[in-house]
Amino acid sequence: MKNNLLDCKSLSKNDVEKIINQASIYKKAYSKGILTPEFKGETSFNLFFEPSTRTRSSFETAAKRLGIMPINIYGNFSSIKKGETINDTILNLSKMHPALFVIRHNASGICQQLSNITDIPIVNAGDGTHAHPSQALLDLFTIMEKKGTVKGQNISIIGDISSSRVARSDSELLVKMGCNVTFYAPATMLPVSHSQNITVAKNMLEAINNKDVIILLRIQLERESGNKFSSLKEYSKYFGLHKDMVKDKTLILHPGPFNRGVEISSNLLKQKNVVIFDQVENGVYVRMAIFKWLLKELC
Ligand code: CP
Repeated sequence: MKNNLLDCKSLSKNDVEKIINQASIYKKAYSKGILTPEFKGETSFNLFFEPSTRTRSSFETAAKRLGIMPINIYGNFSSIKKGETINDTILNLSKMHPALFVIRHNASGICQQLSNITDIPIVNAGDGTHAHPSQALLDLFTIMEKKGTVKGQNISIIGDISSSRVARSDSELLVKMGCNVTFYAPATMLPVSHSQNITVAKNMLEAINNKDVIILLRIQLERESGNKFSSLKEYSKYFGLHKDMVKDKTLILHPGPFNRGVEISSNLLKQKNVVIFDQVENGVYVRMAIFKWLLKELC
């Protein structure tokens, strides 16, 4: 049966371990200059209907390092602007026999819908507020690389959780892998419901004290996050992370793009325990591993 990467819920622990192990193999091979273009001759279609810097270029880099030729299609410059439906776009592109589709779209659930009409594997590169599984996998890889383990890690996710596909995918994956996950956000940014394995902190001190990892989220002004708090200054004061608030051993992650001076201060960004740029680097290896997992069974 065709494999897709649509969300973290449908990944087994075994799948996750295989992808993380393979990403580690690719990272070592790349650093030694012994990476082989094992999928030479294949093509992938990157369909992006929402802005992206990291995810699109990371999937493109991952494809090229494996010998896959990526073809980028931007929503605003595609025939969708002439009235073609996204289903018809996928049906047409499937006939060019790509190895896979990588899709970002603002409609939650669109990748699941499209996976039902094509035999080509689909990677969800972020759909609305639903899921961003490759981001969650690269976050997990970075935590494991820096901490040496994931089970039992105390992890806080702070910010606009209700609007965040990253928060949803991260929390699903991290709980699955045995972490203790805490949410902290203004009441207006907490999800209506969440897994019973997740704790909600009452204040910032509770959210950051004794945590191994803190994942900060972006204030999503394009998704009306701005209506959920009184001012950016006030958000930064009560929910932002600043220098000297956490110990050096606490890893600080952010999926990017970050709002400098809002959810994270400039001086904190310079600290060694802030691993945001390591996340970006690791994202390429994790996405290469995702391609391998989709195109060949990983052992
Ligand atoms: N983290 C992430 O999804 O970033 P982009 O929106 O730049 O792809």
